[in-house]
This record gives sequence, C-alpha cells and structure tokens, in this order.
Amino acid sequence: MLATALLAAFVGLGSALTFQGRDGLANVYDSCVTPGTAAFSFDDGPYIYSKDISKMFTDAGGHCTFFVNGDNWDCIYDSRQQDSLKFAYASGHQIASHTWSHKDLTKCDNATMQSEINQVDVALQRILGITPAFMRPPYGAFNDDVRAAAAANGKELVIWDFDSGDSTDPPTNATKIKQDYDAAKTRTGKILALNHETSNTTVSEVMPSVIQVYLDYGYKLVTVAECLGNKPAYSATTEAGKPNYQWHC
Ligand SMILES: *[C@@H]1O[C@H](CO)[C@@H](O)[C@H](O)[C@H]1NC(C)=O
Ligand SMILES: *[C@@H]1O[C@H](CO)[C@@H](O)[C@H](O)[C@H]1NC(C)=O
Ligand SMILES: *[C@@H]1O[C@H](CO)[C@@H](O)[C@H](O)[C@H]1NC(C)=O
Ligand SMILES: [Zn+2]
Repeated sequence: MLATALLAAFVGLGSALTFQGRDGLANVYDSCVTPGTAAFSFDDGPYIYSKDISKMFTDAGGHCTFFVNGDNWDCIYDSRQQDSLKFAYASGHQIASHTWSHKDLTKCDNATMQSEINQVDVALQRILGITPAFMRPPYGAFNDDVRAAAAANGKELVIWDFDSGDSTDPPTNATKIKQDYDAAKTRTGKILALNHETSNTTVSEVMPSVIQVYLDYGYKLVTVAECLGNKPAYSATTEAGKPNYQWHC
C-alpha cells in the first residue's frame, strides 16, 4: 500500500495521550501522534546488540529509540557500552531513559525514585552530553508519584501501543511476533512498539523482517520524539565528559 493511502485510511484515529500533564505531573504517551510513523523502541540495554540495531535502522534509512538502563544487563559505563551509545547517538537514534536499575518505580519511595532517574541522567550527561526528555518506567508501571518525579526531572513518560512479547516468560517466538507485527500495521496507521535489545531473536530474526514489512507498507521509521510531533528528544545538551574513577556502576 502506498504511503498516501496509508495516511488517508487512518488520519484522526486515536489519541496519543494517556494522561495529560497537570499540576506538575508528567504527560504519559502510549502512542504516536504523526500518521504513518513507526517508532520502534528497544529497552533494557545497552547490551551486546546495540550497534547491530543502530546499523539496521540506519541502513533502512530510518531511526529508532533506545530506552537505556544504567545497571541492568550490563553497566552503562563499560567501555563497550559507552562506545555503543556514542555510535547510536551519532547515528541519530534517540537515547531515552529507562532508569538506573529497572526497579518498579511504583514500589519505590521518592528518594529511590529520584536516584533511579538521576543516575541515568548523570551517566548520559557524562558519556554523551545529553539529558533525555523522555523516560519509560520499567514494566510500564507508573502512578502520580512517578509522574511527579518524572516532571521534576524534566521528563515525559512513554509507554507503548504494541508489545512484541519478546520479554515475556517464555518469550513469544519469532514467527508469532512477526505475525503480530504484520497484523498491527493495518491497525491505526502508526505504531509505538516495545522491544528489548537484549533479545537475540528480536535482533537477528524479527527486526530485519519487520523493518522491511513496515517500509513496504509506507511507514516512516522514526524516533519516539519524532513520532510525537517532532518534540525535542533532550532537555539539555552539553559537552560530553572524559571517563574518570567516578564512572562506575
Ligand atoms: C512523593 O512526592 C510527591 C510529590 O512529588 C508527594 O505528593 C508525595 O507525598 C511524596 N511521597 C512521599 C512518601 O513522600
Ligand atoms: C510459535 O507460536 C505460534 C503461535 O503461538 C505457534 O503456532 C507455533 O507452533 C510456534 N512455533 C514454534 C517454533 O514454537
Ligand atoms: C544470535 O542468533 C543468531 C541466529 O540464531 C546466531 O547466529 C548468533 O550466534 C546469536 N548470537 C549470540 C551472541 O548469541
Ligand atoms: Zn525494561
């Protein structure tokens, strides 16, 4: 189907905002606003496939988004991970926060929540010189305290409207994930998809095929910030730092 037909078929459907920001509470987005956009997001890294994912989207003429942890599958300060982050950022992919150690923030006190958010900001300021404007709470779990903490740190919350199932226990198999993606492409004409960059299946089997399917259907592969109407991905940018003894998990 041509891109124009794709757009015409779906314009005006749905609303991106789950919760509108008010009284110091962050906005919560669970879908894209721009028709024809596909925002593929990858959680829980940086890990060993970050560069492969970056390259895949760059080669497809598009961009994707990484919601990164500080200390989860690997340490963000590991030199390999610093390198992967620099590579992804320099390629124009969006770097967003998934908090430091992947705790359920709705079960944290305010001080812990603050530290979970702040430590990733500090790491990304050091490594890339950026402060992410978007954050995905682990497990997609949030309440008003989480929204308040996000807003206090200059962040909006991002959930998703398509879960590939690559982190369920057991993970959904590649064939099923590809079928689900195929069905989702005709759903609303935009997609904000949750994937995990820690899944080899996602990286080696699912994405190469799904990217082509979405391109062929007329979608633009964009970052989450772009799919929300070209919002700024970062609330601040500065010079990146130089590694020192404080850079550790
Ligand atoms: C956490 O912070 C929010 C405002 O940011 C406040 O409303 C709430 O009472 C705080 N909770 C605790 C347990 O201090
Ligand atoms: C994958 O999942 C589908 C749907 O649940 C199932 O029909 C199929 O047998 C599964 N394939 C493998 C290899 O497990
Ligand atoms: C990932 O999966 C591919 C295809 O099954 C395999 O060739 C490759 O060795 C795997 N990589 C890792 C790091 O496990
Ligand atoms: Zn996660």
